[in-house]
Amino acid sequence: MAAKPRISVIGVGYVGLCTAVGFASKGYSVVCSDVDSGKVSKIKAGIPPFHEPNLPQMLEKSINQGYLTCLVNQTEAAVMETDITYIAVSTPSKEDGSIDLRYIEAVSRDIGKTLRQKNGYHVVLVKSTVVPGTTQNTVKPILEAESKKTCGRDFGLCMNPEFLRQGSAFEDTSNPDRVVIGSFDEKSGDAIERLYRDFYHPKVPRIIRTSLATAELIKYASNAMLATKISFINTIANICEEIPGADVKVVAAAMGLDKRIGPLFLDAGLGYGGSCFPKDVKALIACSKALGYEPELLDSVEDVNHKQPLKAVEFVKQQLGNLEGKNIAILGLAFKPDTDDMREARVIPIINELLKEGAVITAYDPVAISMAKSIFQNKISYADSAIGCLKNADCAIVVTEWEEFKKLSPEDFCINMRHPILIDGRRIYCPEVYSEKLKFTAIGLGK
Ligand code: UDX
Repeated sequence: MAAKPRISVIGVGYVGLCTAVGFASKGYSVVCSDVDSGKVSKIKAGIPPFHEPNLPQMLEKSINQGYLTCLVNQTEAAVMETDITYIAVSTPSKEDGSIDLRYIEAVSRDIGKTLRQKNGYHVVLVKSTVVPGTTQNTVKPILEAESKKTCGRDFGLCMNPEFLRQGSAFEDTSNPDRVVIGSFDEKSGDAIERLYRDFYHPKVPRIIRTSLATAELIKYASNAMLATKISFINTIANICEEIPGADVKVVAAAMGLDKRIGPLFLDAGLGYGGSCFPKDVKALIACSKALGYEPELLDSVEDVNHKQPLKAVEFVKQQLGNLEGKNIAILGLAFKPDTDDMREARVIPIINELLKEGAVITAYDPVAISMAKSIFQNKISYADSAIGCLKNADCAIVVTEWEEFKKLSPEDFCINMRHPILIDGRRIYCPEVYSEKLKFTAIGLGK
């Protein structure tokens, strides 16, 4: 293998593209391939297909310097020209919550076919989130059958979960808490450990070497733990609301000072969304049940998260009673700030429920409006500013904690709304200040 191995990345979704750009920006030669020609044309033109801070500049630089190329559905060509192949295709949920491996299987077949013709040692690395056993029992047999070669002897196989968060992808990949390398055999693991030691030099993070299945489970366990923290603090928030004078923010801050608990992921709100937590918790539940174990704790985590967004609707009804014809301003559509992603966004059940009750909705988000239009079409109206969204509203709900919403003063609400009623679904406002001038309700605040 050359000093800097050449890398192919199959699947340029969030994880694939950020991985590819991360390597290319450090001078690695990267070839990507994706079945979506629209996405590939955008990437080739230096335009990221999704919103991510720093990605546009890094992508453009990588392309201009010739370190990154992107092909339409040419896994074979990408593998042929490189030494290490990342599988980063999506692993969606099936109806029953279990993981759909069809893209993983298809890509493994294409990679295997290419390995058959390719000389020299090649390492295949699964980056997609897959349930424990997938790399060993699905990817390996396909690669061996198609390549007519033997894993461990003729080619390497690793599982390397990704922990990056949308909105801070490059901070997370350039400065991770740990790098997990699950490997079929030592030689494959050594090749990938060398790759990461070189990539991170001189500030190499903790590298954890494990079996393939353990690496796969580390990813699910991490996401399930974070989801559990969120559903836990939301449960405490719901209890706080029944206790006069209690405030979940203060409870969480004090809890977080205990080193065994830690301060992060204890922000009570309207629940978790996005492309990972909901899907991964469901997949872990389905995987566990298939293995014969009922993961009751995880069932509850999901259940709490399913109900949590509807708290916003409950609060609106407490304030306004019948919602027929009432104007509701929705501040924030993305599942979290700094992204335009609305997958499993908590705003979706909130808006659907408000519409069912006859409310008239105007929504605003700094970047996710066009995404929202593809979901809600003309069932709701869209404003082009936060202030515009508040005009004539009977009630406003903060659903996503964008920085610009934090700057809205009580006067901004009072002057623009018909009835200054504010529901803080993400705890971004100081209750003392806002409740002085507005009818103010917030998650986790005792009445
Ligand atoms: C997550 C994991 O953090 C990441 O390690 C993994 O690779 C992919 O899934 P991401 O989905 O980008 O990343 O978002 P994250 O910042 O973790 O937030 C997920 C959801 O949890 C958001 O909807 C957010 O609003 C919610 N959340 C987060 C809370 O409600 N409270 C918190 O304290 C933290």
